[in-house]
This record gives sequence, C-alpha cells and structure tokens, in this order.
Amino acid sequence: MTDYRTLRVALLGAGAVGSQVADLLLKHRAELADRAGANLELAGIAVRNVDGKRDADLPRELFTTDAETLIVGSDIVIELMGGIEPARTQVLQAINSGADVVTANKALLATHGSEIFEAADQVGAEVYYEAAAAGAIPIIRPLRDSLAGDRVVRIMGIVNGTTNYILDRMDTEGADFADVLAQAQALGYAEADPTADVEGYDAAQKAAILASLAFHTAVPLDAVHREGITQIDAAMIESARHAGYVIKLLAVCERLAAAEGEASESISVRVYPALVERSHPLASVHGANNAVFVQAEAAGDLMFYGAGAGGVQTASAVLGDVVSAARRHIAGGVGVGESTRANLPTVPIGRVITRYQITLEVDDQPGVLATVAGILSEGRVSIATVEQTVIEPDADSAAGGSARLVIGTHQAREQDLSETVQRLAASGVVERVVSVLRVEGN
Ligand code: NDP
Ligand code: HSE
Repeated sequence: MTDYRTLRVALLGAGAVGSQVADLLLKHRAELADRAGANLELAGIAVRNVDGKRDADLPRELFTTDAETLIVGSDIVIELMGGIEPARTQVLQAINSGADVVTANKALLATHGSEIFEAADQVGAEVYYEAAAAGAIPIIRPLRDSLAGDRVVRIMGIVNGTTNYILDRMDTEGADFADVLAQAQALGYAEADPTADVEGYDAAQKAAILASLAFHTAVPLDAVHREGITQIDAAMIESARHAGYVIKLLAVCERLAAAEGEASESISVRVYPALVERSHPLASVHGANNAVFVQAEAAGDLMFYGAGAGGVQTASAVLGDVVSAARRHIAGGVGVGESTRANLPTVPIGRVITRYQITLEVDDQPGVLATVAGILSEGRVSIATVEQTVIEPDADSAAGGSARLVIGTHQAREQDLSETVQRLAASGVVERVVSVLRVEGN
C-alpha cells in the first residue's frame, strides 16, 4: 500500500449534503487516497446538535459543537452549514490558519465572495465551490478553467430545481402552483422557506457566481435583476404552450457590446421567468433538474445538465473539490485566485434588449388594433406576430365585447417596452394588461 501523507479534513455541517460527504469520505477512504495522493482523514464534524438524526450512519465520536477548535490545524475545511454566520467567520478562520476551503454555500459567496477570495489570495489558499451553483453539475470548473481562454458571450441557466419542478408540472399536467409547491417541499427540493426559490433569490445568488466567473468581474448580488415565478398562472402556461413556448425561470448572464460613448463592454445579469421555444435544449429540462447553456465565442454552444440539488448528488461535487484541494496541498504552491481583472460594469434592466410577448384584454371595437399598433410604433417596439381571440362576444353589436391580443415583438429595449406597456394600460382601449413575458433563446 502506498505510504501517503495524511491531510486533516474538518467538516462543518452534517445535514442533507454534509452527512453524505462524511459517509463517502469514510466509505471510499482508500480509493480517494489514491486519487488525491493523500490520506484524507476526517478529523471531526461540527454541528449544532451532536445527537441529531443523520441521513448516514456516522461515528458519534466525530461530532462536536466546537467548530473553531476543529478548524485549527486542518488542511482542508469543508463548509456545509449554509447561511452567512457563522459560516463567513469560520471560512475566514480556516483560510487564515492555512487551510484550503471547500464550500457549497451560494448565499455566502454571492454576498461575501470578494472578502473571502481576497483573504485566500493574501495567504495563497484556495476556495473551491463547484457545488455552489447547479449542485452536482460541473459548471464552475468549466467556466473557471476550461473556458479561461475563450470569451463567454452568454449564459442561460435553469439553476433552481424547485421552480423548474413547479413550472414543469404546471406545463405537463396543468397542475396548480400552490399544490406543486407543497409537493416540491415534501420531496425536499424547496428550501425550508420557499421564498428563496419561488422569488428567485436562490437563482440570483447562483447567477452572480456564474457571471463573476464567466466575465472575470466581481458581480455583487445587488447588481442582479431578480423576478420570481409567483405571478405565473395556468392561463399563462397555456398561452405559452399555444404559441410554441414553455415558461422557465432563467438566470441570464450576458456580455453587451460597448454602446456609443461607452469605454468598455458591459454585462447584464438577470433572473426572471421567460418564454423559451420548445425546440430549445433548455425546454427539455424537466422536473427538478438544472441545466446551464453557455455560448462562447470560440467554443460555440455548450450545455451542462443534471441534478441541481440533492444530498448525495451535491456531495459528488463537494468531494471532487476535496480531491482537487488535496492534490494542491500535496503539490504545494499558491492557490489559483479568482480572476476579476475585466471588472466590467453591470447595466440596469432597462438597457437589456430582448423579445417580448405582451398579452392584453382589449375592447373589441373598430380601430382598437390600429390604436395598439400605433402606441407600440411610437414606443419603438416592432410587432412580429399578433393573435386575436374573441373572449366575450357582444350579441347586441356587430363588433365583439372583449378580445385577447397576444403580441409577439421583435427585439426591443426593456425601458422602451415597459414605458410602452404603461401607455397601453392607460390608453382607454386596453381593459387589462394580462402579462408581459420576455422571450429568451434564439
Ligand atoms: P442542512 O440545513 O441540511 O444542514 C446544515 C448543517 O449545518 C446541519 O448539520 C446543522 O447542524 C449545521 N449547522 C447549521 N448551523 C450551524 C452552526 N451555527 N454551527 C454548527 N453547525 C451548524 O443544509 P444542506 O446540507 O441542505 O446545505 C448545506 C449547504 O449546501 C448550503 O450552503 C446549501 O445552500 C448548499 N447546497 C445544498 C444543496 C441541497 O440539495 N441540499 C444543493 C446545493 C448546495 P445540525 O444538524 O446539528 O442542525
Ligand atoms: N432549493 C434549491 C433548488 C436547492 O431548488 O435548486 C439547490 O440549491
């Protein structure tokens, strides 16, 4: 048997992910040693309640409530507690005591990533976080390493399993939003407080992480435009289907060319429900799965697909990071820092250019269509398609009572579009703006 050096591994957290990481570290000890070139000794597991029920059969003597003492002298610290504190303080403690850190904590990295990466840079440590965006799917390394010589133009990601599960069940079964959310919670996809999922906060954190890597720019969470899926109803799903689309909660990270008078390119990072053509690869991402569609100048279109959540699935990504950290420790040298040299500005949502589908309820009277078309034209919004359905015929009149207009636009600037929709709403011929959805993907 090879005589490997032993590396001391501290695990913080033994919940859905942490308990599986500990189990795999212990079960596959010999194989992991051969792959890492080091014995990975699980020195201890810090939790809140040492007698808590675990998803795996783990030795009781490994558990402690004293994370600070466990971190001291560790070579690799795996942070799987979640949340901001004490995770932030303990990750910084680990870095400053010479350990490499592995974390799956998107909330921490999206809010304190710069502080953590700078601290690691200062001491030559490295922070690994493959599981922090899209769970088991390898996407951090592809963006950070494999595509480091290319220029990423655009990322469109389904990065939240709960919302994809909800929208998919609404689409395939006509299920009701509240019912499917309850099922997603029962299946363990949704966070304890599902607001983070359904209001897009979880996806926004992942978008900030992906955009930072893709565009070599530290993207703060508050630069990410965020909308959730709570306003999506069965009628919108049906209308999307009728027009050949499916509704997905997308994280879109996009490089924008420098406009006239601007010194540099810029980026847009946004999360919202959008219409995706049914022929697009992202349309076939079902259930709680995630997928990240990357467009790069040289590589072209790439798609990364798989489980975006789940204890054992996420543990796979964490263990990959642990092996990388161990190899680096054995090889020596300073860690690879985050590349933020491009430092591109993030534009507000009003600058985004995309296509839209506007659904209106209008008076079904002569001249109404012309009025609507005139308002769109004045607002520099060009019509691509129009479909009218009479929804409330008026038996006493030659004309109808109410009609539904579904207008597909060519590419328009978000600010022009939203001002135009406001003018339509106030025009007197529009009874109700039913919905305005972006159309993403070519
Ligand atoms: P859980 O809530 O299931 O587990 C959290 C663990 O951390 C528990 O063991 C808990 O201890 C421990 N813990 C929490 N606070 C403290 C504290 N103050 N001191 C000591 N221990 C503490 O979380 P998950 O395993 O689901 O998630 C872990 C991380 O992985 C999070 O950052 C999450 O965002 C990320 N992630 C999770 C995925 C998933 O599918 N679950 C997917 C991708 C990323 P105790 O057991 O005693 O309460
Ligand atoms: N609640 C998250 C999801 C877990 O639904 O994708 C993984 O981050």
